[in-house]
Amino acid sequence: MTELQGARALVTGGGSGIGRATCRALARRGVAVAVLDLEDDRAEEVATEVGGLALCADVTDVGALATAVEQAARRLGGLSILVANAGWSTMEGLAHWSPEQWDEILRINLTGVWNTIRAGIGHLLAGGGGAIVNTASISGTRPSAGETPYAAAKAGVVALTASAALEYGPTVRVNAVAPGMIRTGLTSVLLEGIEDIVGHYQRITPMARVGEPEDVADVIVFLCSEQARFITGQTLVVDGGMTLHGAGVDGLFDRFFRGQDRPGP
Ligand SMILES: NC(=O)c1ccc[n+]([C@@H]2O[C@H](COP(=O)([O-])OP(=O)(O)OC[C@H]3O[C@@H](n4cnc5c(N)ncnc54)[C@H](O)[C@@H]3O)[C@@H](O)[C@H]2O)c1
Repeated sequence: MTELQGARALVTGGGSGIGRATCRALARRGVAVAVLDLEDDRAEEVATEVGGLALCADVTDVGALATAVEQAARRLGGLSILVANAGWSTMEGLAHWSPEQWDEILRINLTGVWNTIRAGIGHLLAGGGGAIVNTASISGTRPSAGETPYAAAKAGVVALTASAALEYGPTVRVNAVAPGMIRTGLTSVLLEGIEDIVGHYQRITPMARVGEPEDVADVIVFLCSEQARFITGQTLVVDGGMTLHGAGVDGLFDRFFRGQDRPGP
């Protein structure tokens, strides 16, 4: 993917997890990276590591985000890649979320993506084109209980991605990734706090493990690259096959051959 050499990227939520891995993966391919995060020390640390620019802003704050994006474009000499990745949630029963919490989850995970694209798209168009990758989630494509605002926001990201792709093609491609269970700051409380949860995910995931941030970052880089030149408006699920379960006859193969030698490879 050496054709990314010379590209200029802004990554939101770049200070940790999937965003940090994306900053590293882009920088390794010669991309100049602006690392934007709510936490300035995280942004600084990653920017120092990848030789990029640290920006501290909240993606829900339209004014601060616009200022940061302008700064990125000025310092990097334009922008050709936007990775709208910042996100966060917790879990709660549908009727127990307060209206304030509901709004906050929507604002960070959905409106924050819109804010990022709105602030950055002019620079991509002015530079002759580029690529946008948004971080959705399997919660937006195959939601679970306890995550209504997050699931709704991430489903919104899937739809926003397709709609934006229609508006900005052929100049700018717009895609999304939908990660499964990835080991990051967001999920550490679950993966480290719930007994045998890692074993559970290993058992239900065809790739037999929890994902690492790099598993998603490499797909984001692919979607930014020339190799993905005919892909736009898509949401690529990166979950090791975890959400393949749940088909009408799921498990039938195993049950059919129970007690017998199951046909091997
Ligand atoms: N980890 C998973 O299993 C998983 C699965 C599906 C989707 N995702 C999505 O991946 C994205 C990245 O999350 P992660 O898992 O790497 O988590 P993470 O907590 O490791 O990293 C998220 C980063 O975003 C920053 N951030 C949060 N709110 C922000 C805001 N309002 N403005 C600017 N920065 C903000 C945080 O400070 C943090 O550095 C999120 O959109 C998340 O919803 C993660």
